[in-house]
Amino acid sequence: MKGLRVCILTASDSGARGEREDLSGSKIREIVEAAGATVIHHVIVCDDTELIARELRDMADNRGADLIFTTGGTGLGPRDNTPEATYQVIEKEVPGIAEAMRWHSLRYTPRAMLSRATAGVRGKSLIVNMPGSPKAVEECLQLIMPALPHAVAVLRGEVQNCAADRETPGT
Ligand code: MTE
Repeated sequence: MKGLRVCILTASDSGARGEREDLSGSKIREIVEAAGATVIHHVIVCDDTELIARELRDMADNRGADLIFTTGGTGLGPRDNTPEATYQVIEKEVPGIAEAMRWHSLRYTPRAMLSRATAGVRGKSLIVNMPGSPKAVEECLQLIMPALPHAVAVLRGEVQNCAADRETPGT
C-alpha cells in the first residue's frame, strides 16, 4: 500500500450532524496508514445519494485518489444509499471485491449477506464500499488489501495484466 493515495468517505446522517463519532472512517485511516498509504482526504457526509456521488466524483476526478473507501450505508435501511451513489459514478464494476468481502465476512456474522456493497473503477481510481462498523471495516480491509497495490498498478498502466507479474503461474 506504500505510496498509494487514499480518500475516505463516511456516509452517516448522524455522523454528518456531529452526533456520532466516525469510528469506521478512523479505522480505515489507521489501517491504511499503517500499511504505508497516505490519506489525502476524508469527509463525513449524510446518506444522500447525490451528495455521496458528488464527493466520489471529486475524489476520483480532482484529487487523484488511487483508492476511495466508503464506509456505511450499504445495508437495507431507507437511508442506506452508498451502493446507489457508487453505481452512478463508476465506469466498470469490480464485483469480485464485494463478493469476496461478503463471503469472507459470513464467517463472522450471517448479517454480512445484508451488505449490498459494490466496488468499481472511475478513471484511475478504485472505489470500494465497506460496511459501517469499525469491526467490519477491519475484517474486510485485511482481506482485500493484498490485492489493491496490483489493482492500482494496472489502473495506472504500470503493469499490463494480471498474468505478467505473477511469480508462480496459476497463482
Ligand atoms: N461484515 C463484516 N466483516 N463484519 C460485520 O460485522 N456486519 C454486517 C454487514 N457486513 C458485518 C459485515 C451488517 S450487521 C450489516 S447490516 C451490513 O454489513 C451492512 O452494514 P452498513 O449498513 O453499516 O453498511
